[in-house]
Amino acid sequence: MKNTLVVGGAGYIGSQVNNLLNERGYKTVVFDNLSTGHRRLASRGGFLKGDLGDPADLARCFKKYRFSAVMHFAAFAAVGESVSDPAKYYRNNVANTLNLLDAMRSAGVKNLIFSSTAAVYGEPIKTPIGEDHPLSPVNPYGRTKLMMERAMADYGAAYGIQYVALRYFNAAGADPQGETGELHNPETHLIPLVLDAAAGRRECITVFGSSYKTPDGTCLRDYVHTADLAQAHLLALRRLERGGESGVFNLGNGKGFSVLEVIKAAEKVTGRKIPVKLAPRRAGDPAILVASSSLARRVLGWKPEYAALETIIDHAWRWHKKQRG
Ligand code: UFG
Repeated sequence: MKNTLVVGGAGYIGSQVNNLLNERGYKTVVFDNLSTGHRRLASRGGFLKGDLGDPADLARCFKKYRFSAVMHFAAFAAVGESVSDPAKYYRNNVANTLNLLDAMRSAGVKNLIFSSTAAVYGEPIKTPIGEDHPLSPVNPYGRTKLMMERAMADYGAAYGIQYVALRYFNAAGADPQGETGELHNPETHLIPLVLDAAAGRRECITVFGSSYKTPDGTCLRDYVHTADLAQAHLLALRRLERGGESGVFNLGNGKGFSVLEVIKAAEKVTGRKIPVKLAPRRAGDPAILVASSSLARRVLGWKPEYAALETIIDHAWRWHKKQRG
C-alpha cells in the first residue's frame, strides 16, 4: 500500500487529519519543519523533519517513500501577520508550496489536497458564501492561498495533477478523543482566547468591534469543528483515489455566531464568568463570514457531525484543560 504524505501534519488541523487517516487504515508520513507544529501531535505513521523551503529535504522524502497522494497543511495563517510581514507569507505559502508541487511532478504523484480558506473571498457581497462568489481577498494571506489555487489549476491542466482545495471557514474545537488540538503561539483566535479568559489566564476577552451591522453589533463567523474538517479531507482523498475530478469546496456549517454568542456559549460550557472588554474594530475583519457548503455535502457526501457551537467549545475546553491543567 502506498503512503499519503501529510505536509504540516504536526499542526492543528494536519495532526487531526493524520490521526483520522491512520484510524481508517491509511499509511501516512508526516513532513513538518516543526516551526509551528509539535512533534508530539504527529503521533501516528511515519515522521520526517524537513523544510518545504529546501528542495533537498523534499527530494529525500520522495526518494524514501512512495506516495499516492499529498495533503498540504503547512502554511502560515495569521491574517494580521500577513499584512505586517507579507514576505513571510509569499515565501512559505507560495514559493515553498511550488517546491512541493514540483517535487510531486518529479516523483509522478498526481493527487493533492490543499488547505484553502474563506479569506480568498474578501469582503462578502452576499451571504451565505458559495464557491461561485467573487474572489477578492483583502489581505496577503488570502492572496497567497488564491495564488496557489490558481497554480494548482494550471499544474492540473499541464501536468495532470488532480487536486481538491478545501476552503475552511473558522476552524475550531479539538479532537473529540483529546489526542490533538490547538497550540498556537502567539494565539490570535477567538475561542482559545475566550477559554484563556475563562481559565483566568487572561484578564478578559477583548471584543474587536461592536457596531457592525449584525444583530448584536459583533462579527458573525461560521465555526467548523476540526474533526469535521478531517472527515472532509478523507472524503476528498477518496474522490481523487476513485479518479474524480479536481474541485474546490467550502467547509462551514452555514450558521454564523457572533463574538458575544461565542463568549456566552463558553460561559455555559465552562461554568465561569468571562470578563469582556469592548474595543475598536480589528483591521480587515468582514462583518459576516458564513459558508454555503452545499457543494461539499452533495459532491463529497460531507456531513458535519459536530456543528453545535457548544460541542465545538466543549472539545476546545477539554483540550485547553489537558494542556494547561
Ligand atoms: N475576535 C475578537 N477578539 C479576539 C480575537 C478575535 O473579538 O481577541 C473576533 C474577530 O474580530 C472576529 C472573530 O472574533 O470577528 C473571529 O476571529 P478569529 O481571529 O478567531 O478568526 P478570523 O475570522 O479572523 O480568521 C479565521 C482564520 C483565518 C481565515 C479566516 C477566514 O484564522 O485563517 O478565518 O474565515 F482566513
